[in-house]
Amino acid sequence: MNMAASEELYIDEERRFLMNLILLGSAGITVGAIAIPYIAFFVPPGSGGDGGGVSAKNALGDDLFATAYLTEKPAGDRSLAQGLKGDATYLIVKDDKTLETYGLNAVCTHLGCVVPWSAANNKFMCPCHGSQYAPDGHVVRGPAPLPLALAHCDTAEDGKIIFSTWTEEDFRTGGKGWWN
Ligand code: FES
Repeated sequence: MNMAASEELYIDEERRFLMNLILLGSAGITVGAIAIPYIAFFVPPGSGGDGGGVSAKNALGDDLFATAYLTEKPAGDRSLAQGLKGDATYLIVKDDKTLETYGLNAVCTHLGCVVPWSAANNKFMCPCHGSQYAPDGHVVRGPAPLPLALAHCDTAEDGKIIFSTWTEEDFRTGGKGWWN
C-alpha cells in the first residue's frame, strides 16, 4: 500500500470513529478518545442521496420528526443526524425554534475528520488540525480550504425531516457549491 492510500484509509477510519462518538452523544471529545475501542456504526442501505432526498436519522437509524425534534432541542442547537449518503450532517435549530432550511455536512474540508460544534465558542472546531468554521459553516480559520457542504433541510408532509442535495449557489461564497 502506498503512502497516500494508507493515509486515506487512516483518515476514513478516524472520521467514522469520530462520527460514532458524536452521534452516540459523547460530549467533550479529547485526543485520548482515540484510544477508545472502535464502535461499529451502522449506516442503513438505501440512505444514499439520490433523487428526492433522504429522511434525517438518529444514531439508531430512526427517522427524525420535526415536531418531536424541536421539542427536545433548544434554540441555537446544532446536533448531528445521518444525512445524504450516510454523512454526519448538522441540523440547526434557529432562535425562533424552527429548523434552519439548510443542514451542514460535518466532514471537514481539510482531510475529512468529523467536526464537532462548540457551543461555548459558537464555532465548529476540528480536532484534527485546528480548522474552525462559523455557525453557517464558512471557514474562519484554516487549514480547511472550503466551507462545510450544504444540504437542503425541509419538513415533509408527514413531519419527517428531509435532507436533499443543494445544487443552488452557496450563499456563503456567492459561487457554485464546491460539492456539486
Ligand atoms: Fe479538519 Fe484537518 S481534518 S483541520
